[in-house]
Amino acid sequence: ADQYAVMGNPIEHSKSPIIHTLFAARTGEAIRYEAELVELWDFKDAVARFFENKGRGLNITVPFKQEAWELASQLTERARLSGAVNTLWQDDNGELWGDTTDGVGLVRDITVNHQSTIAGKNVLVLGAGGAVRGVLEPLLAEKPAQVVIANRTVSRADELAKLFADYGKLTACGFTEAEGPFDLVINGTSASLQGECPPLPPSAITPDTIVYDMMYGATDTAFIQWAKDQGAVHTMDGLGMLVEQAAESFFIWRGVRPDTQEIVEEIRQYLL
Ligand code: ATR
Repeated sequence: ADQYAVMGNPIEHSKSPIIHTLFAARTGEAIRYEAELVELWDFKDAVARFFENKGRGLNITVPFKQEAWELASQLTERARLSGAVNTLWQDDNGELWGDTTDGVGLVRDITVNHQSTIAGKNVLVLGAGGAVRGVLEPLLAEKPAQVVIANRTVSRADELAKLFADYGKLTACGFTEAEGPFDLVINGTSASLQGECPPLPPSAITPDTIVYDMMYGATDTAFIQWAKDQGAVHTMDGLGMLVEQAAESFFIWRGVRPDTQEIVEEIRQYLL
């Protein structure tokens, strides 16, 4: 079987081995996919060893995504803009390619799995860290009417708005200035990890707003809980995005697109 792996530190909680093993079973692709804990100083050599040993493709997770971006000799356009790489492979000439599939994963989860549209919508994105930078190009490619980036540190939101200015109508502000209503609100902050919520004005969310948290958990994230308290009816967490970004990596490596819908439900059981 062809060998694949995810590299990170820590890595034991990664769902990628389960997801890709399910993809392989369902598509009949003969692959083995493992999790590899990499020491912080050893990333570059670990990647070199993996491909020397005939490894076919890698996923890269925290804290190595920026290092992978620097290491790749070829980048897709969306990866170049995102400053991070979560998928590596070698072409026939031995060139190391890097891509980032998170943004496509987010867009596919919203538009295919949840059958919502982004085109023409008023979109609010919360956060201005790596998670948000990684999804902006695919999000803007859907042609929303506008994207407002709101962040605790407004200067970081400003920087992202400048970086992606050529790709769509983008503005930046602080959380309290994010006056709505918005059709779609995407939380890309890590505030839910601390059980916190960005302090949005009440106008941001209405019962018609689609609320998406890029985080996920066995129970509602703090942000989803808060949105429901504000009257949000259409809420979704980031588990679908996790499965879709994996599916996009699988497609890059194998040329086969796994069916993801049932797998999202199956993976949800592993969270409990
Ligand atoms: P990641 O790569 O996961 O995006 P990051 O670059 O550290 O990680 O960015 C985390 C994001 O969550 C940032 O937008 C951060 O806001 P700041 O830029 O002001 O630091 C945001 N964030 C983290 N904790 C938060 C909290 N408790 N409330 C609001 N925003 C928070």
